[in-house]
Amino acid sequence: MKKLLDLITEEVAKAFEAAGYNTSYARVSISNRPDLCEYQCNGAMAAKKEYKKAPIMIAQDIVAQMTDSSMFEEVAAVNPGFINIKLSGAYAAQYMTEMEADENLSVEKAAEPKTIMIDYGGPNVAKPLHVGHLRSAIIGESIKRMGRFMGHKVIGDVHLGDWGLQMGLIITELQERQPSLPYFDEAFSGPYPEEAPFTIGELEEIYPAASGKSKVDEAYKEKALEATHQLQLGRPGYMALWKHIMTVSVADLKRNYQKLNVDFDLWKAESDAQPYIPELVQLMKDKGLAHEDQGALIVDVKQESDAKEVPPLLLLKSDGSSLYATTDLATIVERMKLFNPDEIIYVVDKRQEMHFVQVFRAARMAGLVKEETGLRFLGFGTMNGKDGKPFKTRDGGVMRLENLIKDINDEMFKKIVENRSVRDTEATKTAEMVGLSAIKYGDLSNQASKDYVFDVDRFTSFEGNTGPYILYTMVRIKSILARYTEGGGVLENGKILAPANGVEKDLMLKCARFNAVMENAFDEKAPHKICSYIYELSNDFNRFYHETKILSEENEVQKASWIALLDLVRRVLEACIDVLGFEAPERM
Ligand code: ARG
Repeated sequence: MKKLLDLITEEVAKAFEAAGYNTSYARVSISNRPDLCEYQCNGAMAAKKEYKKAPIMIAQDIVAQMTDSSMFEEVAAVNPGFINIKLSGAYAAQYMTEMEADENLSVEKAAEPKTIMIDYGGPNVAKPLHVGHLRSAIIGESIKRMGRFMGHKVIGDVHLGDWGLQMGLIITELQERQPSLPYFDEAFSGPYPEEAPFTIGELEEIYPAASGKSKVDEAYKEKALEATHQLQLGRPGYMALWKHIMTVSVADLKRNYQKLNVDFDLWKAESDAQPYIPELVQLMKDKGLAHEDQGALIVDVKQESDAKEVPPLLLLKSDGSSLYATTDLATIVERMKLFNPDEIIYVVDKRQEMHFVQVFRAARMAGLVKEETGLRFLGFGTMNGKDGKPFKTRDGGVMRLENLIKDINDEMFKKIVENRSVRDTEATKTAEMVGLSAIKYGDLSNQASKDYVFDVDRFTSFEGNTGPYILYTMVRIKSILARYTEGGGVLENGKILAPANGVEKDLMLKCARFNAVMENAFDEKAPHKICSYIYELSNDFNRFYHETKILSEENEVQKASWIALLDLVRRVLEACIDVLGFEAPERM
């Protein structure tokens, strides 16, 4: 369906034409004076220069051509040359009726669907997920869902960190602890044990222990670096250990991401890029892009126009081992080969921006992607505690994601049981659903690139701009609809009547913005725009609800129209929270 603003613009353009003005001035926008009008066109002011005429006179000419249109309830030319517009209620209602009948709720799917890869999540194996991983998962998942809603083919890849020093550290520490394991015996010819020599709990303890030691013990660190290199070279014992680490970690990661309602199409890892590294390095050398510098292989990526220094990209270390940039470049090669995406979007902490500047430049210089392939870094800010510092546990430690989720769910459970409208057996499940909305909405309602304060009290509140408030509104709508059908009413798409009052009209006009909001939020990769939209839509609905006795309405046609409008609002809200990555319960 066409966007309402475009339809209004088209109608206003007809008036421009009829009055003898260029239609390019006819652009209509949402009024920034809602007390005066719903829409406005400022084209008369812009046309002043071309027509050498006072804008108010131009506006009057145009308004004179608009008064007959059934699309408008009121049009006025206002000094110094605004055209103020109120839409006719019947027109708004007609738009609602059409929207209701549209399975995509008025959103037009992309005419030319793109293949888009989203690199998000990005956890490092063998380390527990902590709050630092939350944002990438939540934002990336939302952008993936928005893209799909718009009709694109979107492939989400978790891109596990499994090929760097942390692997060497774990191998080294394991060898210290259990030197007799066959993985360290170079003479051992296999097969290696099926069972991992550690549990996830042990693994999570081994890594920080090893990392701590490497910081104070130079020889230990050397060993870990060498082990990393040997792993990258494919030493069989280390590969067998790597496989165990992967199996144990990935099972744990999947469990955690599932709790977040985050779902990856691909569980690929840095190591998957290893087969592409030799050809990548060769290509970089052949093209004269890589050169040696103190034994290491580097690529100069700086450009004259750089305001800030862009250091060279490190392609290979002097011992020949690969680095973060190496696997990222090789992964681009792999992705182009396997999926040929039109765009790759990286949802990563904004502190990694320079790394991606280097990688993208090197990728373009080497022609790893087509000229038109998009490489986009979507850097997000830090999740802080109320003290303005990165979010920590009460005693100052790194907060595990699992614990954060649990804290929120416990808080939600308390509130829901207080509310008592939910049976106890349902309360746990409901608390999980509402808790997830608190976390995700709390995060997504902020512009991704900004730091934000994770405020448990505020995020879990049923009032204000929060996930629970949105769900509460949805549950309210669902309960009205349920009572309607219990009373014998039938929920079906039907004609929505012209609004009975101003609040109903506001609700309709807000609802009608859905297609524009969704399209724009995806174009700008800005889930926060969907959040502000559903917050406004919820407010408009609640205002309408408080002013209207829906179920006791005696005129059945009017009642059915309201019910149809409510059901439409519900569907819009459902679609929005679905792209944000959470769901609403039936009751709460
Ligand atoms: N594993 C990385 C980290 O923890 C994030 C990976 C982001 N994705 C990428 N392709 N580099 O910092």
